[in-house]
Amino acid sequence: MLRPKRSTIKVGCELLKNSILTILSFLFLISCKQVDNSENRLVSVIPKPQSAILHRGYFSLGSQTQVKFDLANLSIKSVADQTIEWIRTCNFSEAGKGTIELLIDNQADLKLSGYRLLVQKRRIRITAKEPSGLFYGIQTLRQLMAANPGGKIPCLDITDYPAFGWRGLMLDCSRTFLPKAYILKYIDRLALIKMNVLHLHLTDDQGWRIEIRKYPELARICSNFDPQYPGEVNGFYTQDDIREIVAYASKNYITVVPEIEMPGHSTEIFAAYPDLSCKGNKSVIFPYFKGPGVTGDILCAGNDSVYVFMENVLREVIALFPSEYIHIGGDEAPKESWQNCRKCQNRIQSEGLKGEAELQSYFIRRMEKFIHSQGRKLIGWDEILEGGLAENAAVMSWRGVQGGIDAAKMGHSVVMSPTSHCYFDYSYETTSTEKVYSYLPVPKELPIEQSKFILGAQANMWTHIARTETAIDAQIFPRLFALAEVLWTNPVVRDYADLERRIGVKSAEIK
Ligand code: ACM
Ligand code: ZN
Repeated sequence: MLRPKRSTIKVGCELLKNSILTILSFLFLISCKQVDNSENRLVSVIPKPQSAILHRGYFSLGSQTQVKFDLANLSIKSVADQTIEWIRTCNFSEAGKGTIELLIDNQADLKLSGYRLLVQKRRIRITAKEPSGLFYGIQTLRQLMAANPGGKIPCLDITDYPAFGWRGLMLDCSRTFLPKAYILKYIDRLALIKMNVLHLHLTDDQGWRIEIRKYPELARICSNFDPQYPGEVNGFYTQDDIREIVAYASKNYITVVPEIEMPGHSTEIFAAYPDLSCKGNKSVIFPYFKGPGVTGDILCAGNDSVYVFMENVLREVIALFPSEYIHIGGDEAPKESWQNCRKCQNRIQSEGLKGEAELQSYFIRRMEKFIHSQGRKLIGWDEILEGGLAENAAVMSWRGVQGGIDAAKMGHSVVMSPTSHCYFDYSYETTSTEKVYSYLPVPKELPIEQSKFILGAQANMWTHIARTETAIDAQIFPRLFALAEVLWTNPVVRDYADLERRIGVKSAEIK
């Protein structure tokens, strides 16, 4: 039996903004005692906790371990039930002793979604200010349990909290339809590593993947591939499927952000509703566009029916997804069809716009007003900056970080997802796990007072190349372990060799 000495990992909590801070952080780091390798193994958790103090002895978890919580506090009940269920399914060989206490303490000196996990020989206590903190404490416990077989959890004291509030993964369900069971599995995977946003790219040129009751043709026609591509997985999520996904995610403290692409990446709509394109001619879009890249035909910005249609779609989407943000795409919308469209040119004239870039901005602003009127916020890819950013819009910066910097400087919220570090459809030669791990979501060039607009970051998994679950999984893991730690753990203690070691321990848990 290993008898660990008392040792400490402490983590500074400020992001490095300049060289003085860098030096201070370095001095701070080397003044801390590191746990040696064997002790590290006992605390093989991803993302690495902000602070962990290891003590002697262990708590013996088993089928008889009791979960204690304040029954009158309904907000804890869901986490407590999940904990009880987890213990029930663990198949312990021993009965185990002691209790796990779940405690909400509004006065605790803890950060948002943070927790303290105290493991003693006869008692485990998780304290948090909100249920999400308790949930994250349980995820740490689950990982400790997996890294220390036989139910023997080392005695320790962890204080932990996330560095960023948006810790996301985007799954492209359009190019390859991803079955509901696979999405639910991803929710489990994300929860275990404390990720909290699942962005579903529900529509694109290759398929519309969500049932809209007002326009049943979208699911019936636009989710079906051309018969010349046998073997394609056709499909869409019914509204009941979506409700199930959203509810399951919510139990796991994950927000599902829906994306409905407009005005580009939308030719699949024209298979059923050709009048919404500038050309108004169905023949131009068959066979379905297959590859990566963009299609020339886009939604007509001069046609009022397009806005009515999209508002009706978004009304149903908003009713299904309780997320603060609704993603409207906005990327890669070539303007040739608008240049050649009488209705679009009339709209430019009547609205006094300077050209097609401002017409795109006009389009997004109309959508933003609608989404805002429904009590939500619009988020879009960084092209929505072109021609002027809509008033309350948030930006997802993918073509590098400049769009994110520009938006943050204007006081808009930003989610970083640059191709350089966050595109998991790219090969590992281009974007290695180590490169992902080196990512700093707050750009150095952003003044410190504007860094608060960087909500966090997300990985994007486009599915036009990797098209099977096995291939998609291989693109995402192990890189997502690295991003989870980038978004949770403060950069001062990042240690890639140690992450690699923990990935070795963890990979078996991601089934
Ligand atoms: C994108 O990759 N077109 C957002
Ligand atoms: Zn048009």
